[in-house]
Amino acid sequence: MAQSKRRLNLNVGINPTGYLHEAWKYRSGTRHDIADPDYYLRLTRLAHEGVFDAVFVSDMPLLRLEKNSRPSQIIDPLILATALTSQVPDIGFVATVSSTFNSPFNLARRAQSVDIMSGGRLVINVVSNFVPEVAANFGKDPLPPRDVRYPRAIEFLDVVKKLWASWDPRREGEVSEEQFWDASSAHTIDHEGEYFHVRGPLNVPRGPQGHPVIAQAGASEGGIELAARHGEILYTNVLSGPAGRALGKKVRDRAATHGRDPAGVRIVPGLVAIVADSREEALRKHELFSGTGSEDGLLARFASAHGIDPADFDPDAPLDAARFVPDPKRIQALGFTLGLVDLLTHEKLTAREAVRRSEGNHRLVLGTAEEVADQIIELWADGSVDGYTLQPPRAPDDIEEFVRKVIPILQDRGVYPRAYEEGETIRDRYGLPYPD
Ligand SMILES: Cc1cc2nc3c(=O)[nH]c(=O)nc-3n(C[C@H](O)[C@H](O)[C@H](O)COP(=O)(O)O)c2cc1C
Repeated sequence: MAQSKRRLNLNVGINPTGYLHEAWKYRSGTRHDIADPDYYLRLTRLAHEGVFDAVFVSDMPLLRLEKNSRPSQIIDPLILATALTSQVPDIGFVATVSSTFNSPFNLARRAQSVDIMSGGRLVINVVSNFVPEVAANFGKDPLPPRDVRYPRAIEFLDVVKKLWASWDPRREGEVSEEQFWDASSAHTIDHEGEYFHVRGPLNVPRGPQGHPVIAQAGASEGGIELAARHGEILYTNVLSGPAGRALGKKVRDRAATHGRDPAGVRIVPGLVAIVADSREEALRKHELFSGTGSEDGLLARFASAHGIDPADFDPDAPLDAARFVPDPKRIQALGFTLGLVDLLTHEKLTAREAVRRSEGNHRLVLGTAEEVADQIIELWADGSVDGYTLQPPRAPDDIEEFVRKVIPILQDRGVYPRAYEEGETIRDRYGLPYPD
């Protein structure tokens, strides 16, 4: 059942050691945590204590071997989802899955199975993959270009959804004593498309929330089309209120042209929150956790990331959005840079200001717990976003701090629940419509 009162939706990332690459140096725990089941259980229990809607696990089927790298995506997200939802009640699970390196039948079957076993608590975050090296783990072909990956992703989800709807026990009629079931409650899908040929039906029936909720995070033209056709939760980089409203309008309008209910789209971008006893202290933590060490370090990283000649760089001059528009043909994710372009289109900022507005490509909020709560509520209250996917710089430390200090403020302000409602699916919690 869809809820009537609008509520702030919050997810929290539980990738090992946290979201920011250098922040592990300042976290508690050991380096063995990354493959310790108890560690993930502890993070999920913490998230449950904070009444988060879901824990979020990003994914990249690739282990980097550079000396200064850190393994950041390890346990298969759907396997983590199975284990954790069976041990922790209520909380949903967002599992990142690839539309490029999966078959629709396999993914539909595994995801629907987890959704059933968890009582309707699964969200899949569908990515098309943007890192060329990933392709080498799956064959000799290079990573397909964006104009192939996204049409393939759209057809992939068309097939997956047909499979999810291909056996619906609600269609069962009378079953005689001689029969176990009414086989007419299932049907083949006979899909023959450009990328996939799949007969079906799926051998897993419709689950408690119809099918798992679908999230996506690409922000290029192809990503927006995927969102409009299939996305229920959008996890893209939104760095300002106007950018959130523009994204929501664009995707909802386009969803309506595809015959979808525009109310079935939620904007829940990534968020990096840095909480401290004062804003000054939060600024210093930002410099440490980002690995830049100082404000000058943040500025130097900004210049280098955007190919700006340091000799030509005035960090106090207003930035021109047009200067940052990425080449739409580049293979790397466009969404990461588009977030900055949207921010600069709507606000005149200097580089010194811009480096404090975003970290790890997500919106950055820093300050005291009150200040962080205010900034979160601000863009939710005016409808720019429906919630956030918190990406803690350090795990477990920043999840713990957020749960102890910021969640009670959100609860006291009446925008966030104090407890889970029994029997809710993740679809209910997001107020998303059930599929037919
Ligand atoms: C906030 C955010 C989180 C993402 N998380 C992942 C991830 O965990 N794994 C992955 O392969 N891609 C991830 N992506 C990449 C996108 O889903 C998408 O494949 C990529 O951005 C390329 O598409 P684009 O050029 O349309 O942005 C993420 C993107 C964004 C904006």
